[in-house]
Amino acid sequence: MSTTALLTGAAGKVGKYVIGALSRRGIEVVATDLVSEGIPADLRFERCDLTDATAVTRLVALVKPDVIVHCAAIVAPVSYSEPELSEAVNLGGMRHLIDAAKRHAPDSFFVFVSSYAAFGPCGPGDPVRRSTDPCWPDDNYGLQKLTAESWLRYSGLRQCSLRLGAVMDLHDLMPEHPAYRPFVFMVSLDQPEHGVDVRDAARAIASAAVQQPDGHLFLIGGDDSWKVPARQLRRDVFGAMGLSVPPEKAFRANPDPSVKDGWFYECWMDEKYSEQVLGFQRVSRDAFMDELRKRYRVRRVALSPLRPFVSQAMMSASPYTGRNAIAPGATLWDDVCRVYELPIEVAHARTSDSPPPSPFAEKGVSPLFERVNRSRSN
Ligand SMILES: NC(=O)c1ccc[n+]([C@@H]2O[C@H](COP(=O)([O-])OP(=O)(O)OC[C@H]3O[C@@H](n4cnc5c(N)ncnc54)[C@H](O)[C@@H]3O)[C@@H](O)[C@H]2O)c1
Repeated sequence: MSTTALLTGAAGKVGKYVIGALSRRGIEVVATDLVSEGIPADLRFERCDLTDATAVTRLVALVKPDVIVHCAAIVAPVSYSEPELSEAVNLGGMRHLIDAAKRHAPDSFFVFVSSYAAFGPCGPGDPVRRSTDPCWPDDNYGLQKLTAESWLRYSGLRQCSLRLGAVMDLHDLMPEHPAYRPFVFMVSLDQPEHGVDVRDAARAIASAAVQQPDGHLFLIGGDDSWKVPARQLRRDVFGAMGLSVPPEKAFRANPDPSVKDGWFYECWMDEKYSEQVLGFQRVSRDAFMDELRKRYRVRRVALSPLRPFVSQAMMSASPYTGRNAIAPGATLWDDVCRVYELPIEVAHARTSDSPPPSPFAEKGVSPLFERVNRSRSN
């Protein structure tokens, strides 16, 4: 009898590749998402909004999956510009899926696609992260991923989580959502980044769905060649596309070394154990950049005379230059709150300022999650 996998976020950057990786392993895929663009027409597709508990229960009862592969999310920096939606999908959606699985597919294996955001801020001098390391996320996305992992771990379901590094797709280097334009400049150039080719990430996820290693937490990054500072990755990618990296002053300056949480959450991970178990690493950074150069061969020549104008146009999106430039705050989260104009209760909960007393504090829930729930029940 064949194994059926319910794959959420199937139309997303990672989900699209997971479809192929699961199918190649003989798994029958039922794809679900808000949209079906890019999903092969011959694949069973069930539209479902994960923030709708009833719809999720109905879906899981209908499909009765052997495996649930949960890729859907609101990723950073979209989670910064749309914090309520992020909370509703990343926490609410996870809750609904766990509850539905316990009720209608209690023997299923749950694969949760998490992020290295769960670790929290990490600077250039910090040690390589291991799966047993403590976590102190300071942004909504990292907090939501860490919370969802722990809900799943204590759900009673058979499960594992995979923390993905920076996923690189040759065909989708810069997502269209406007939140990305300023954010490119908000990561300091000395930030450690751990890239992984999207095909390798999909292979790791599918391998976990087949092997079903209960209770594991995997760290999914490329081989050592992918552990580089942001400056190197930007140079490689811009260079392969025939563009120059905008001047340093357009990027967030390195934070003051005395500020513990000044950096972004990206880090270098010890992915050796995950590679041993899941066997997913095929694409080195050099191989990825070679493919990218080939893809942009013609466009690179055409773009060459336009280089200075493209660089100028990109720089206009930097929050640190131009007429409305901001001075970098002590933490990246301080800058995020200003650039994305976060609602006051989200911003105050995590900036370097002291938080105001919360009316929800004694209930042990975040004000935002409380508000989303209240508005849904009205
Ligand atoms: N892209 C990265 O660099 C990266 C890095 C680390 C971890 N991850 C994780 O990998 C997973 C996949 O990320 P991605 O890059 O493919 O993201 P993506 O934004 O490309 O795809 C997410 C998908 O989720 C779907 N979705 C959003 N809200 C939904 C809702 N209410 N109901 C149903 N579906 C909904 C979207 O339509 C989209 O197709 C996520 O869990 C993400 O946190 C991604």
